This record gives sequence, C-alpha cells and structure tokens, in this order.
Amino acid sequence: MTERLKIEHLYKVFTDKPERALAMLHAGKNKSEVQETLGQVVGLDDVSLNVPSGAMYMIMGLSGSGKSTLARCINRLNEPSAGKILLDDEDICTLDEAGLRDVRRNRISMVFQHFALLPNRRVIENVEFGLKLRGMSAPQRRKRAEEVLSVVGLARWAYHMPHELSGGMRQRVGLARALATDADILIMDEAFSALDPLIRTEMQDELLRLQRTLSKTILFITHDFQEALKLGSRIAIMSEGRLVREGTPQSIVLEPGSDYVAAFTREVDRGRLFDAGSVMTSLVTILRGPNGIVLGDASGEPGPGFMLDADERILGTVTASEIELARGGAMPRPDSRFTCVPADTKLVDVAGSYRSGGAIGVIDDTGRLIGRLEAGQILAGIGAPGAAGARHVN
Ligand SMILES: Nc1ncnc2c1ncn2[C@@H]1O[C@H](COP(=O)(O)OP(=O)(O)OP(=O)(O)O)[C@@H](O)[C@H]1O
Ligand SMILES: [Mg+2]
Repeated sequence: MTERLKIEHLYKVFTDKPERALAMLHAGKNKSEVQETLGQVVGLDDVSLNVPSGAMYMIMGLSGSGKSTLARCINRLNEPSAGKILLDDEDICTLDEAGLRDVRRNRISMVFQHFALLPNRRVIENVEFGLKLRGMSAPQRRKRAEEVLSVVGLARWAYHMPHELSGGMRQRVGLARALATDADILIMDEAFSALDPLIRTEMQDELLRLQRTLSKTILFITHDFQEALKLGSRIAIMSEGRLVREGTPQSIVLEPGSDYVAAFTREVDRGRLFDAGSVMTSLVTILRGPNGIVLGDASGEPGPGFMLDADERILGTVTASEIELARGGAMPRPDSRFTCVPADTKLVDVAGSYRSGGAIGVIDDTGRLIGRLEAGQILAGIGAPGAAGARHVN
C-alpha cells in the first residue's frame, strides 16, 4: 500500500518562539521538563507516522496526550513548530494560503466531537455549506448533498431542521458534510465520543460499512481503546506528546511494550480480537503421494498430520507412524475426527466449535488447509489464565 500521509519528526510547542523548547526536546528533555523550565506547553514531541492509503488509522491516548493537536496540525489549524507533513509527498507545512485552502476544502475533511450545525438552516443546507465555498453551482450542490445524506441514512431528514434530529443523527450530518467534499482523507476527532453507547456502536458499524465502499483514508482519534480495536487497521498510541507505540491491533495487544500501553490492553477480550489464522502453526507439505494425495504437518510439532486430496482439502488426520509407512508406499487410512475452521474465525468461536481430542485444521477461503491449531494455542491466544477472554471458552 502506498502512503497517503506521512508525518516526519513533527513538533508543536504552543508559543511564537519555540527554539529553546525544541532545543530542550532535541536534547532529550520531556514535556513536563520543558513546561517547568520555560512555562511553554509541548503539544507534540517528535511524532513520525505513516498512514497508508485506504487505512483506518487510529490515534489513541489519554486526555492531553496530543491527539487533537496532531489532527489540527495536519491541516494547520495548529501551526507545527518543526517537522514535515507529507500529503502525497507534498509538505503541507510549506503551502501558501491558496494551497492550504485547497487542502482544507478538497483534500482533507474533519469531523469533530461536537459538530456545530447552523441551527436556522435545514439539514441539507448544512451539508451544502462547504460545497458553496468550493464554488459548486446550486443544483450541483443540492444533488451532491442528497447523495451523501442517503449514504449516511438520512435521506428522509434532508428538509428537517437540526433541532429535530437526535445527537447521533446530527453527528451523521457532520459525517455527510465531510463526505460531501469528496476529500479522500477524513480526520475524525472523537467523532463518536459524545454519543450514547448504542448509537455509538451503530455509528462505528456504519463507518466500517462506509469505509468498505468508499475506501477513504481515515485518521480516527479516540481515547477508547475498544473503539480503536474495533475500527482500526493500525493504531498509534500517544503519551505526553510522544508516539509511544504503533502497530496492528493484534500486535499491540500481544506486545504492548510499556505499562502505559499495557493498561489499555488489560480489559481486551482477546478471544474476539484474534482469529485462527493469527495464532495457527503453518502447515508444511512433507509428502506427495499417489493420486495427488498430500500429507502435511506442522513442522517440528508433535501431534497428528493431515492427509489432503489433490485440491489440498482435508481428508482426515494421520499419525506419525502412518506417515512413515506412507513413505514406503502404504496408503494411510485417515481419521475423520477433526475440526475445520476458516482462518478468520475468532478464537472464541473456535473454542466454541472445538470437539475435544481431534485436531483443528485451519482453512483459507478456498477451503485449502493452511495450518493447524492446538488447544494450547487457543488458550494462549485468548490470554488464559486469568485473561478477560477466558470466560468465553466454555
Ligand atoms: N491552544 C492551545 N494552547 C496551549 N496549549 C494547548 C492548546 N491546545 C492544546 N494544548 C495543550 O497541548 C496538549 C495536548 O492537548 P490535546 O488537545 O492535543 O490533547 P488530546 O489528546 O486531544 O486530549 P483529549 O483526549 O482531552 O481531547 C495539552 O497539554 C494541552 O494543554
Ligand atoms: Mg482531543
């Protein structure tokens, strides 16, 4: 995947004269040391990250860690003190007024937590607002606004007034307004945080659905780790203006790397996070027999091997001694007591369908066997003993 947005060594100190603060940060001092010495607030301290095209990229961290500052630096609502923000290899920090206006109107849209709608204008006029600034004609604006309102499920509400909408619906209008501009980078700063839990879940599902069809590049800011796990393809975690951990949701849960990050992962339901494919042992072919029969095993692991047909679908399991006999030409008789799960099955569901004693084969979406799972891998994957996910095993 190509990178749409690259941030390189970005610093933000809230002052007109950041030189001394920057020198302190370069010398390894942290945010509170700078604040004590100079009385200046550090918003960002050497943040670098790459947002791939089409990603749902999450920025996570406690209150005050610098998430909104980062978002606001990207379209220069906050002026960065040092560093680069590369949008398709063009540095946003060097843009003149006109260039910056183009970025804000056409290339990057923002959705905030409390989305301010114009109270005396109908919903559809609120959506059209940004389009007018772009110089679109009235009929074109109306058409585009109707389209995006229907995308967010608000077609029926287009001609209502904002006060007739619920908080969740108003947030959808905010989303519609961001989508209307056709910008393919969306920055959503705590866009769902003010919503009550059920509406919030609904909006998250909606965003995932939209993302599948629109494939925007989305930078989503949240202080809720569960939300980051649910939505994110990658997560960057911030603390005191620094980026302290970056990676896929699974990798962060498996290896938090610090107590600060581990504290977020503690409540995670691992059984619902990890799938069979992420913890299985890959299968290696050890023998190709007559009629296309394949014997495979997880290399170096004790336990049964698998016998596959010419299309690499499971016929059954075979013992190690049968594999030895097969080397001499004998055709094994596969044992059909095995469980088969697709690679994207969540571990909690693997545990639910597991018939004890037999092997677990992991198959890809064409039905080919690609790996093997042991009961121990399932338990380790869901974080047993004592992990939150373990209660789902039974
Ligand atoms: N305009 C400003 N002037 C001075 N300091 C600021 C300004 N905006 C933010 N800060 C400081 O920058 C730091 C980061 O704030 P920021 O708003 O980015 O945090 P956040 O991670 O978005 O927090 P929250 O989860 O509460 O929204 C804080 O220490 C804050 O006090
Ligand atoms: Mg914020």
